[in-house]
Amino acid sequence: MTDAEIKKGLAGVVVDYTAVSKVNPDTNSLLYRGYPVQELAATQSFEAVAYLLWYGELPSEEELAQLRATEREHRRLDPDIRAGIDQVPLTAHPMDEVRTAVSLIGAVDLAGTGSVLDASGNVDDNLVRSIRLFAVLPAIVAYGQRRRRGQEPIEPRDDLDYAANFLWMTLGEEPDELVVDAFNRSMILYAEHSFNASTFTARVITSTLSDLYSAVVGAIAALKGPLHGGANEAVMHILDEIGSAENVEPWLDEALAQKRKIMGFGHRVYKKGDSRVPTMRAALDALIEHYDASDLASLYRSLENEFVSRKGIYPNLDYPSGPAYHLIGFDTPTFTPVFVAARITGWTAHILEQSASNALIRPLSAYNGPDERHIDGYVPDAAQVEAAQRAEEASE
Ligand code: COA
Repeated sequence: MTDAEIKKGLAGVVVDYTAVSKVNPDTNSLLYRGYPVQELAATQSFEAVAYLLWYGELPSEEELAQLRATEREHRRLDPDIRAGIDQVPLTAHPMDEVRTAVSLIGAVDLAGTGSVLDASGNVDDNLVRSIRLFAVLPAIVAYGQRRRRGQEPIEPRDDLDYAANFLWMTLGEEPDELVVDAFNRSMILYAEHSFNASTFTARVITSTLSDLYSAVVGAIAALKGPLHGGANEAVMHILDEIGSAENVEPWLDEALAQKRKIMGFGHRVYKKGDSRVPTMRAALDALIEHYDASDLASLYRSLENEFVSRKGIYPNLDYPSGPAYHLIGFDTPTFTPVFVAARITGWTAHILEQSASNALIRPLSAYNGPDERHIDGYVPDAAQVEAAQRAEEASE
């Protein structure tokens, strides 16, 4: 096998069909079930987009009302799960906390299911599980940020829709409409992106007939990495490190000399710019004006201009999302957990799709370790000699 035949990182490899979303790097477009994501972000609630991803069509008014009622029913954090979260050290990364919480929810829900086959569940079971995780994740994320700040948890408000309630539980203030709108857009933009690393992880786990919770836990683990979801947090660390717009040039000189990756730029699929950035940049601009954050704005714009003009590598969604979440009031380590709360919709849509048309995902590898060798003094028994002879004969 030659190096060229090995698709390292699976780059360029098409492994399956999906009807959930289409990423087209040539036209710089992203479609969820056929709808351009920017149209959805401009016109829909996150709940409606979640419905679209799961069911394939936008909901009627009645269907949306039903989903919203179910979401409200499952918003509250069960005291046992909260107690489980409390076992996670305050100094642990919030992604470890969210991963643990989902794992615990899964263990509680699947307790008594008997065999691993029973746990994998049918479509209806898995839709119910998906909607419940979607409903409870904001409470997990909000509780995490508040406990790290030494603040009391805040109960959800049933008079608020998903995005407004998420901000209410996190910040304890009724959010401004402009802020809710920007946040809602960001959640829609983060909801789905075809076979990215975390979604693919979820599909690999699902393909073994493991349960939905296990697949989501694996996806959270993959999303934590700074080459994937962790980049929105990493962007804010970089902006903090640079400090102000006038430091951008010397900082970039040094970072590039050290061959550092500049977080929030570049993409495995989009090479001419990320389709989600213009919508998120507009939401960030609105937030910058709302919070009167001109210093952050000039730092943000200056790094983008300088990096794009030097490298020709464009910002991805994490670049505007990081500062947007900062302005809204999320602590930097909470950014990727917010991404989890959004991407749960896409992950679970893919888990349902994988289950409906399953094939175990199991690629091959080219071995480049030592040649066959043997333990000194080891003598194979007769059965092994026979098995080796049979294998040799079969391969001839
Ligand atoms: N900063 C500096 N250089 C970058 C870069 C970045 N953010 N992204 C890509 N490059 C450079 C690489 O160094 C490489 O240069 P080389 O050919 O001289 O070695 C070239 O561009 C190709 O990059 P590569 O990492 O091989 O592309 P990829 O498709 O495997 O990686 C990412 C895509 C997303 C992993 C990569 O762009 C990256 O690490 N970005 C920063 C993390 C990030 O924002 N992740 C969120 C993704 S949505």
